[in-house]
Amino acid sequence: MHRIPAQGRPWEALKQELEAAKAGDYAWRRGRLAVYVYYLDEALSRVQQEAYAAYWTENNLGQRAFPSLKRLEEEVVGMGLSLMAAPEGAGGTFTSGGSESIFLSLLAARERAREERGIAGGNVVMPNSAHLTFDRACWYLGLEPRRVPVGAAFRADPAAMEAAMDGRTIALVGSAPCYPFGVFDPIADLGRIARARGLWLHVDACVGGFLSPFAAKLGHEIPEWDFRVPGVTAISADIHKHGMAPKGASLLLVREEGLRRFHRFESRAWQRGPYAAYTTQGTRPGGAVAAAWAVMHYLGEAGYLDCARRIMEAKAALVAGIEAIPGLEVLRPSELSLFVYRATDPALDIARVAAALDRRGWLPGRQQEPDGMHLHLNPVHRGVEADYLADLRAAVEEARRGAVERMAAGRTY
Ligand SMILES: Cc1ncc(COP(=O)(O)O)c(C=O)c1O
Repeated sequence: MHRIPAQGRPWEALKQELEAAKAGDYAWRRGRLAVYVYYLDEALSRVQQEAYAAYWTENNLGQRAFPSLKRLEEEVVGMGLSLMAAPEGAGGTFTSGGSESIFLSLLAARERAREERGIAGGNVVMPNSAHLTFDRACWYLGLEPRRVPVGAAFRADPAAMEAAMDGRTIALVGSAPCYPFGVFDPIADLGRIARARGLWLHVDACVGGFLSPFAAKLGHEIPEWDFRVPGVTAISADIHKHGMAPKGASLLLVREEGLRRFHRFESRAWQRGPYAAYTTQGTRPGGAVAAAWAVMHYLGEAGYLDCARRIMEAKAALVAGIEAIPGLEVLRPSELSLFVYRATDPALDIARVAAALDRRGWLPGRQQEPDGMHLHLNPVHRGVEADYLADLRAAVEEARRGAVERMAAGRTY
């Protein structure tokens, strides 16, 4: 069992130990991960670190003590609202990540349904491509998740979703885009259903929130998904994904500021006095807000456009290169930074391709359905396409060679 050492050790030695501990991790600065990490360059990393460090002690729970954090948070929320075309009077909350944004949204939907419709609990109808965090939130909140198979082009099927609704439905969900396939759900259709039934419509733009507005400006075709769509009640958008901020930064945005009260806790039921919070966290790191604020101002619209351009160029190069390899195909459509490819040749085992890529230092993202490979690109991938494709060609060769050798040896696996 690990114990706190009796005596401390000098920071220099510990620092070296931490650096050494990373030696076996995947080389994300060289683009070897297409998941978990969003990296532009060392200059942006410095901004992230120094801005975080400027507020590394401050606690964002105590905005009375740190009015500067309150102001920074309001500015970050405001920038998110305007990016997502929120109407006058909209509101938002800075959270620790996409999961917390989603939890708070479903909590608010539940509490609104309790207050306005007298429903305790209830169900949430979503396409089965919605992030599993929705199931996790339902589990925490005593709600029933109703997952409905996606329709054509891997998009939510509004008619099938409507068929799954009943008098206990409190919310519906669409993604912009969904994580498994990178496609946008038909948010306008979901908005019509939500309005007709008076339901909370959550749009999960954890991936797309800080990327699709810029990709659209670059001329990429992006379906409407934000507050311009009537019926959209709430949006989750992660600043720590394509917003390029360090981890611990997301937004839950709501069409009307007044809706935030449905995820606000307040009580005086203890000796210390009143306690109120809009988030699941109590203590909140001031550094996360300061770093998000700094990154948004540092990049500006021009910087975000550059990130979007790099991602979309990397994607075009990778998709073309992958499709030039016999036996592989890229799933279509895929509208943003995410895509999936799979083997069309039954003799080519994609699991073996994945293992061969892994041996070459690329963390493979394995898609379960259909059996394939999943990539979520970030700006660092512009420039590593040729390396990836060379290793992928070699991995495919290796998998094919292995299959021939196994057959010759009379083995079937
Ligand atoms: C579409 C989508 N929604 C929600 C989440 C959950 O976000 P987080 O991991 O920041 O909690 C993710 C994470 O990848 C996501 O891709």
